[in-house]
This record gives sequence, structure tokens and C-alpha cells, in this order.
Amino acid sequence: MSGGFDVTPLPNSPFGGLLRLRAPAGPDYTRALIAAAEAEPHAIPAALAEYEGLLLVPGLHGMAQDPALLVRLSRLFGEEVENYHETLTEPTKVHETVPEILVVSNMPPASKPPPPLPNPPRTADGGLPMQYPHRRGWHTDQSYRRPPPDISLFFAAIAVPKGQGQTLFANCAGAYEALPAATKARIAHLDGLHVMPGSGRSPDAIRAGKTPKPLAPHEQPQRQPLVRIHPVTGKPSLYLCEEGQLDWINGPVVGMEPGPDGEGGGLIRELMSHLTQPQFTYAQDWDDGDMIIWDNRCLVHAATWFDADRHQRLMWRTTVRGNPGPEYAGERRSWIPQREAEPA
Ligand SMILES: [Fe+2]
Repeated sequence: MSGGFDVTPLPNSPFGGLLRLRAPAGPDYTRALIAAAEAEPHAIPAALAEYEGLLLVPGLHGMAQDPALLVRLSRLFGEEVENYHETLTEPTKVHETVPEILVVSNMPPASKPPPPLPNPPRTADGGLPMQYPHRRGWHTDQSYRRPPPDISLFFAAIAVPKGQGQTLFANCAGAYEALPAATKARIAHLDGLHVMPGSGRSPDAIRAGKTPKPLAPHEQPQRQPLVRIHPVTGKPSLYLCEEGQLDWINGPVVGMEPGPDGEGGGLIRELMSHLTQPQFTYAQDWDDGDMIIWDNRCLVHAATWFDADRHQRLMWRTTVRGNPGPEYAGERRSWIPQREAEPA
């Protein structure tokens, strides 16, 4: 690519790119990379689109001392870096001085526990479980809001040892392209019904007979197309989550038989199993200073277990919004409560 960066295919992955500044790594590498990115503001976003929505940028150790650098870099990806004080986020999970940063950590005050180990913990050949339903938790960030965010940047300030605490990614555009024509026709005009995790609307919660959480008007489940056309690349892409981020009471697919055993649930399971096959997936084993940039419009991701009794993990995430595509044009933000005095 032009300018000051080298981008090469991401090793051990069927998609994605590895981006480095074309300069020797040194104590000022992080600042130099961000200065180069700002000097050529379309370069990294263009590389993200070219490499199918996934870029690994290693070696940004300087960001751990200066979290505002993550926000500066995020600004290149859209008109708004979200302020998590405005997005229904628990205050303990927001960075104390930089409100654009979501803190994903088992350390207080965020104190987020890792996801459980899959059952069984390894695949039959001893590998890391990746494919749904053996691997659970696949989602695209904040799809329970309309319009949903575009891009996430995720930075490892303190990573856990290799072999745990990975982030898994699946290529939804590649998986869509590989679907049989009959399936493409079947899903072309369907909507999924997305809801905030923990709302008591997952298959497990329904089967356990739990009472779903009452949802305020601004927390209501949101329809999202099962197939989105990417506004930058023009490519169609699957857009779905699995159990915890869909509403399995009234959905998960609008207009299809609802519930964990309904036709809509069967379709989601079929699509998610297809999407998370090895030819579409990548596992990121983190090093301190790694950053991954991903496009939520054409990727899903999932977190893996780590030993939280022995290790501390500190990750920072930003989300960037502003180009969800024409189907969201002019919409008001679903998650902002409307005041009664305000005209609808
Ligand atoms: Fe996520």
C-alpha cells in the first residue's frame, strides 16, 4: 500500500491483514504509527476494507501509558467515536478518564469474569473449539442498537498467556458468499431480532423458565437484516449473533416460528454453524501491545476462557459509528430515551 505502512496477509488466518509502520520499532513506535496514520487518514481504513474487515497492529506498547492515543486512532474510522457514558454501559466498565474506552478486564472495578470453557474444553483432536455450537458467544458488537456501530478497536494493555483469553473472528462476507443459492434466496429479506445480553431471552433462560427482564422503550429488541450490504465494499454479509444477543421469545427471526425450538432458531443455528467453520475463522492469541481493528458490519467475534484466578487481563475497546448503510438512513438512535416533552 502507499505511504508509511506495510500490510501483509495475517498469518494463520484465511482473511485479515497484519499492519506495521515501515520504520524501525523503537520507544516512540506507537506515536510514530499514529502520526503516520493521521498524516494519511484513509490508509488504514482502506487497508481494513481490503483485508476483509480485520487488521492486527502489533507493538503499540506506548498506548498502554496513554489511552487517548487509542481514541485518536479510532477517529480515523468514522465520524463518531462512541462515548460509553451515552450507550447504556455500566459506569464501572468505562475508563475513568477516557469515556470513549470500554474496559474489558477481570480486574476491579470492571471485574468481568471470563466466559466459561466450552464443553468439552477441547475438540476431538485436541484443538481450540471454534465452531458453533461447541463454541458459544459469537456476536457482533452492540447489534441490539439501531443504527449499530461500524468498527471496533481492541487493544491489549495486559494480555494473558498464549493459549487462553483469545479473541475469535469469523468472516461473514466470505461465509455468505459460500452459502448455497437456495439459502441466499431464503434469507434475503429476513430480519433477526437482537437484544442486549443478560435480558433473559436466550434459549437457556427460556428453557430454565426464567422471567425475562422488563425492558424500557429504549432497551427494546431491534430488528437487523440477516444480510447486510457493506456500505464501503458493496459485499453482502451475514449479520447475526447467536443465543445470548438475540431475542428467542419473539424471535430470533422476525416472521418465523419463534422460540428455542422454532423454525427461526433452526435457521440461526444452521447459519452460525456454517459461518464458524475453519475456512472462515481466525483465533487471535494476544501479546501485550497488540491491537485488532475489526468491522462489525462483516465479522462476528467471540471471547475465550482464561484462568482469572491466576492472571489479570486488561483490554480496552472503542467503537466507531457513522456509516451503517442506507437502510439506517435518518433513524433516531434506538438506545437514547425519548423525553416525554420531546416530539417523536
Ligand atoms: Fe464483542
